[in-house]
Amino acid sequence: MPALVLLGAQWGDEGKGKATDLLGGSVDYVVRYQGGNNAGHTVVVGDQKYALHLLPSGILSPGCTPVIGNGVVVDPSVLLSELSGLNQRGVDTSKLLISGNAHIITPYNVTVDKVTERFLGKRKIGTTGRGIGPTYADKINRIGIRVQDLYDESILTQKVEAALEVKNQILTKLYNRRAIAVGQVVEELLGYAEKIEPYVADTVLILNQALDDDKVVLFEGGQGTLLDIDHGTYPFVTSSNPTAGGACTGSGVGPTKISRVIGILKAYTTRVGSGPFPTELFDEDGEALRRIGGERGVTTGRDRRCGWFDAVIARYATRVNGLTDFFLTKLDVLTGWDEIPVCVAYEIDGKRVEELPYSQTDFHHAKPIYEYLPGWHEDITKAKTFADLPKNAQNYVKALEEMSGAPISAIGVGPGRDETIEINSFL
Ligand code: GDP
Ligand code: IMO
Ligand code: MG
Repeated sequence: MPALVLLGAQWGDEGKGKATDLLGGSVDYVVRYQGGNNAGHTVVVGDQKYALHLLPSGILSPGCTPVIGNGVVVDPSVLLSELSGLNQRGVDTSKLLISGNAHIITPYNVTVDKVTERFLGKRKIGTTGRGIGPTYADKINRIGIRVQDLYDESILTQKVEAALEVKNQILTKLYNRRAIAVGQVVEELLGYAEKIEPYVADTVLILNQALDDDKVVLFEGGQGTLLDIDHGTYPFVTSSNPTAGGACTGSGVGPTKISRVIGILKAYTTRVGSGPFPTELFDEDGEALRRIGGERGVTTGRDRRCGWFDAVIARYATRVNGLTDFFLTKLDVLTGWDEIPVCVAYEIDGKRVEELPYSQTDFHHAKPIYEYLPGWHEDITKAKTFADLPKNAQNYVKALEEMSGAPISAIGVGPGRDETIEINSFL
């Protein structure tokens, strides 16, 4: 059985955690391939609610092996506290595997993230402040610290020295901050080494052997397509590749092994942090979506910006990820409107544009062109099949499918595992 990728089709928070958890019971491995604890994935199992930041959502499914791939950035203190939090709630985390090639988010990366944002002022990205960008920057600059470095004190010290040489100049001379001591960082990192060691493994070998043995591997994306460093709304993006290609580079599994790419798509749109967002609402409808959808960040507690569904973005996500399916989430949140606007195209400088413009300036000028679909007022949270949905809700889903370019194979009608309508099986 080949591999599946499950990723965000918009700006994150589409419901990836719930979708992964739903499949978790039927897959052998769930792999995070990029990002770090900037993610906030909510999983609701019965009356229990879990917020996962770094760990793959598969950790909640007994029988499933959770994997942190080489493309992920790992904050060891967050890792250990997330593990102990789950252990206290009776979740067995002993199967977790962490790539020795994954990069470590060091305390100085977190500091640099925060001071850089402050320095940018009104041009700030609105990062989660978790050190994600600076850690990936160190990786690309070849001055990063990897998980495996925790097991060689001399190498670790040399690498921390190299990383801090320039950073301390910047911190003290540009940002007027105190220099960070090499010894202190090394000591803190070495303090994590023993606790993490049982999980460190050659995840590339293990995942490829698993695929050879017909095991099912699910890749769980963090963030979303429009936050991708290459394909997103740069510079208002995260510093990794949530898009489908990232699953290969971030895990060491080749593209020929991937058979299905599932885009998680919210029935409306949200965004956290700065950056363009054509369908954003500043009125009572936006407020209602935020309230009914519970649109508050799982990681930073910030209110999410809310807007209507944007089909231009959905089509773009289909294209750059080669999506085979969509999982449409939070349809229940739209219950109660007489009509629901859907953005079908943009108006840019007086012209109708059907596809996402490649120019950042054009995207900043894009105004949504709406079609108005009839709404519904019936409670849909108990619907188990597509036929259980009111006609107008069915038509809304069909219209979105037609506009978005891939079949909608599942529909979320509530946060719980069971509150899902399965149309086409993913496995
Ligand atoms: P992720 O980052 O993509 O995993 O998404 P988040 O967990 O940040 O945000 C999604 C939120 O919507 C969570 O609170 C989920 O419990 C919730 N959720 C997921 N699917 C549905 C759904 O179909 N209906 C409703 N009402 N809530 C959902
Ligand atoms: P999940 O996996 C929504 C946003 C931040 C900011 C930008 C860069 O829960 O969908 P970063 O800290 O990554 O350098 O911040 O990306 N961002 C997210 N927005 N959901 C997420 O993750 C996000 N992870 C990062 O708000 O705008
Ligand atoms: Mg989230």
